[in-house]
Amino acid sequence: MTDLVHSREDLAKARAGLTGTVGVVMTMGALHAGHETLLRAAREQADHVVVTIFVNPLQFGPNEDFDRYPRTLESDLEICRRAGADLVFAPSVADMYPNGQPTVRLHPGPLGEDLEGLSRPGFFHGVLTVVMKLLQLTRPDLAFFGEKDYQQLTLVRRMVRDLDVPTRIVGVPTVREPDGLALSSRNRYLSAAERQVALTLSAALRAGASAAARGDDAGAVLAAAHRAFDSGTPGARLDYLVLTDADLEPGPVAGPARLLVAAWVGDTRLIDNIGLELAPHA
Ligand code: PAF
Repeated sequence: MTDLVHSREDLAKARAGLTGTVGVVMTMGALHAGHETLLRAAREQADHVVVTIFVNPLQFGPNEDFDRYPRTLESDLEICRRAGADLVFAPSVADMYPNGQPTVRLHPGPLGEDLEGLSRPGFFHGVLTVVMKLLQLTRPDLAFFGEKDYQQLTLVRRMVRDLDVPTRIVGVPTVREPDGLALSSRNRYLSAAERQVALTLSAALRAGASAAARGDDAGAVLAAAHRAFDSGTPGARLDYLVLTDADLEPGPVAGPARLLVAAWVGDTRLIDNIGLELAPHA
């Protein structure tokens, strides 16, 4: 059975009844098969699964999609039930921020100002602040985050390490459509034609990964990714396509690396990334 609570008081009562290990999956709702994979990973690794559903105003810029972000609680609950969640916490903005928007927020450090942070100033301050609040409220042993939002996952790991939060962060691989499109709640904004254009992101990543698998060096991997992006269905406006090390630090020459892309397709900003292994070069 999946219990639904909205207030922090009801959450505290329900949480007190969960004995054994607790895994949390934090979401903004509009759940899809990617979230379901997170829920199933939590189900396998923890005794109890708590899901949070909250569209966090702190992480949206003034011209972003906070108002039109899909809110689909009924179907979200169905997915939570199907995946065996024990408890869903779906607070209102007033429940989460009873004193108004917090003036004290977490600072993500330099990585928070790069990549997504460059295009979305304040985004990771808002993400880390709500993640920390949700960790305090749900007190999980494990918290599951998708690799699809790789910069978010990396920053949450750093926050937990730097601030001694007693929760283990588990990264879960991205779920893709058969044609390569990474699942995202924002995909529902795309028209059929835009969806075709959106495939340029995953095509670029695949081309980079194939180049790395052939043993190409970092420059050639990035060049292959750019060529694939440029030769896909036209219409995507590239924000960034970068190759970093696995911790998102610049300049990998060999070993585990990450290729990350962000682009606008119509009014929708999409991100994707892939892990790869760079062969050593003399
Ligand atoms: O990845 C998301 O859906 C959000 O950024 C999160 C982690 C739920 C915080 O609002």
